[in-house]
Amino acid sequence: MVVAPLSAVPQDIVCAADYERHALEHMDDAAWAYLQGGAADELTVTANCDAWQELQLWPRALADVRNGHTRCTLFGETLAHPIILAPVATQKVFHEEGELASVLAAGVMGGAAVVSTQSSIALETIAENTQGPLWFQLYWQGSREATLTLVKRAEMAGYRALVFTVDAPVSGARNREQRAGFSVPAHAVQANVSLISLPTLLDNMSTVFDGLMAIAPVWDDIHWLINQTSLPVLLKGIMHPNDAIKALEIGAAGIVVSNHGGRVLDSTPATLFALSGVVTAVNGAIPVLVDGGIRRGTDIIKARALGATAVMIGRPYIHALATAGALGVAHLVRLLREELEIAMALTGCKSLDDINISVLRKDLFFNRNL
Ligand code: FNR
Ligand code: LAC
Repeated sequence: MVVAPLSAVPQDIVCAADYERHALEHMDDAAWAYLQGGAADELTVTANCDAWQELQLWPRALADVRNGHTRCTLFGETLAHPIILAPVATQKVFHEEGELASVLAAGVMGGAAVVSTQSSIALETIAENTQGPLWFQLYWQGSREATLTLVKRAEMAGYRALVFTVDAPVSGARNREQRAGFSVPAHAVQANVSLISLPTLLDNMSTVFDGLMAIAPVWDDIHWLINQTSLPVLLKGIMHPNDAIKALEIGAAGIVVSNHGGRVLDSTPATLFALSGVVTAVNGAIPVLVDGGIRRGTDIIKARALGATAVMIGRPYIHALATAGALGVAHLVRLLREELEIAMALTGCKSLDDINISVLRKDLFFNRNL
C-alpha cells in the first residue's frame, strides 16, 4: 500500500539514506523501479556511490573557521551552497505537486534546480512559480528546429542556463525501458514535448544505428545550438577528457561530469574517476560539475577537492519529495549542507575555495589516475 506523503518530517530522518528508506513506503512499485533503476546489471549505479565512500578525508585539528560559509558563484549568480537539483523527469509520478515542490525547496534553500525536458508540469508554469534560479535541461528533439523551439521557450520563461544532456541520444528513459523492461507509470505526463517518433525500420535495419541514433545529435548540432542562444550552455554527461576538450572548442559554458546515474550505459567508470581527467583537460576555463552517487556532505567536499565547482543530486531529492514534498526536499538540502559544513570545518576549510586535493588521502587512489 502506498502511504500518502507526510506533512512533517519524522525525527528519525537525519540523512539522505533515511529518506531513501522512507520513500519506499510512499511510492508504488513501478515508480520505485523507475527511480532506482539503472542500465543492465546496474554496475555503474553501485560504482558511483562506492567510489565516493572509498575516498578518505584528512581531518585537520584546531583550525579557525569562524565566519566560514558554503557560498558558490556560478554563471554570475551567487548560490548559498553548491548542491544543485539534477534534472529528473516526470516528478508527478513521485508526488502530486511534482516539480513545483522540488524547485520551491531549491529556491527557499538558496540553491539552483534543473528542470527536465520531460517534466510533468510545463516549463513555463514551473518558472512562474519559483523564486530561485532555474536551469533547463534539454534533450534533442529530433531536429535542429524542434530543439531550438524548446530553447526559445526556456529563454522566454526566464531560465538562467541550459543543460544539454549528451549521454542519452534522445531520452534515456525510452532506451532503458525497452531494454530493462521498466516502464514509466501510466500517469507519467510529459508536459513540454511529445515523444519523438523513431524512423520506420526495414527488416534488416538496426534499431540502434538506423533508429535511435539516426535522429540523435552530433557535435556540430550542439555547436550550432550554442550559437543560437545567449544563455550559458552546459554539457551534461561528459566523462572522457577528449570530449571535455571538444566541449570547450564548441563554446560550452560548463560541463557536468555524469553517467546519468548509471541509467544509460552500464560499466562506465564511477563519475569520481572521470572527474580529475575532465578538470585537468578544462584547466579552469569553465566550471566543471559532477553528479552520480552523491549522498553525503563528505561526498561534496571530496568532489570539490577533485576540482568540481558544484555537485548535482538526483535520486536523493526524489526520495525526499516522495516522503514529504517540498518540506522534505528543503530538509534534505539542509542536511547535506550541514554535513558539508561539518566536513569543511573539520578539514580546516572556511570556504569552498579553501578545499583542495590536500584534504584527500591520495595513496589509496594513486594507481587509479586521480
Ligand atoms: C534522471 N536523470 C535525468 N537526466 C537528464 O538529463 N534528464 C532527465 O530527464 C533525467 N531524468 C531522470 C529520471 C530519474 C528517475 C533519475 C533517477 C535520473 C539523471 C539525473 O539528472 C542525474 O544525472 C542522476 O540521477 C545523478 O545520479 P544520482 O544522484 O541519482 O546517483
Ligand atoms: C531517465 C531519463 C528521462 O533517466 O533521462 O529516466
